[in-house]
Amino acid sequence: MALLEVKDLQTTFFTDDGAVRAVDGVSFSVEAGQVVGIVGESGCGKSVTMLSIMRLLSARHSATTGMASFDGEDLLSIPNKKMREIRGKQISKIFQDPMTSLNPVYRIGVQIVEALRLHDKAISRVAAFDRAEQMLAAVGIPSPRERLRSYPHELSGGMRQRVMIAMALINDPKVLIADEPTTALDVTTQAQILELIRKLRNEFSSAVVFITHDLGVVAELCDEVVVMYAGKVVESAPVDEIFENPQHPYTWGLLGSLPGRNLGNDRLYSVPGSPPSLLDPPTGCRFMARCAHAMSICETEPPLEILDHSEHAVACHLDPGFRTTQAIAFRSIANRVQEPR
Ligand SMILES: Nc1ncnc2c1ncn2[C@@H]1O[C@H](COP(=O)(O)OP(=O)(O)OP(=O)(O)O)[C@@H](O)[C@H]1O
Ligand SMILES: [Mg+2]
Repeated sequence: MALLEVKDLQTTFFTDDGAVRAVDGVSFSVEAGQVVGIVGESGCGKSVTMLSIMRLLSARHSATTGMASFDGEDLLSIPNKKMREIRGKQISKIFQDPMTSLNPVYRIGVQIVEALRLHDKAISRVAAFDRAEQMLAAVGIPSPRERLRSYPHELSGGMRQRVMIAMALINDPKVLIADEPTTALDVTTQAQILELIRKLRNEFSSAVVFITHDLGVVAELCDEVVVMYAGKVVESAPVDEIFENPQHPYTWGLLGSLPGRNLGNDRLYSVPGSPPSLLDPPTGCRFMARCAHAMSICETEPPLEILDHSEHAVACHLDPGFRTTQAIAFRSIANRVQEPR
């Protein structure tokens, strides 16, 4: 059984304008030690999916249904106390902007030690600071002993993100959720942080759920890919399959819009238009309005839901033969994007 298994997750926000179904029937699974990428453009529900699973959304303004089983327990139904024990210990997260998660008034060392002692009450102060120092060293922070005494604002963005990673990993979690952890960083620092996550993943053997809108990052880092569009999973597959045999028109669009990788025919491979409103989503396929291959059935019938992540799954009405022919056109892109891992 998978370490984390999400089935038919639905999250609705109650807004003044009505119910916004931000996540609408999402299913995927994460095996121990795996890196699973969740991709899709802004607003498609990537963050809300993971916040729902960690129960970090306000219960007054939103409701989540479905199942999210972690190590055999349904995260959506366990008591709050149990959830707090799991959060930060078994499942931890790093976000895009470390300044929102680090407290500006406390020294780095105090904050890391706090994260540790929250779940290990017995550890001595001295041992906790030693462990914090080791963690800072492990994430590549120079002079870690001195850095423990720094305040967040005294560090660069890249260093702060390293501190966040150290904090997230200090309790040796089984799952690390990284929500666009590099988007706020410059390109060089971005590459360093990705390299770090790759290295740590081998060292600490945590599974990683990596949220990004960048398929290039997915190619470098992930084992499995979940492609989301307008609150739904449209395609999920092992990473090689996504690049060698992409099956959904939206995935084709994502592949084609990788910078400098298109086939010289922008019209065919970009994704013009914008996602539908989640207040009043289309009855049929949500991607239809932007799909170059839409048929009349796409307007009336939603494509079959993707229920599991165990193999290559796609939610699309197009003829499989046609999709495979199209997919071949993208192999040459894949060859240029995918670097040896
Ligand atoms: N608190 C909220 N109240 C109402 N709607 C919300 C709330 N939070 C998110 N949404 C809506 O849910 C949808 C999914 O948002 P989400 O943050 O998951 O997108 P995302 O895929 O993470 O995008 P990005 O790449 O920009 O981070 C969006 O349409 C957003 O407007
Ligand atoms: Mg997000």
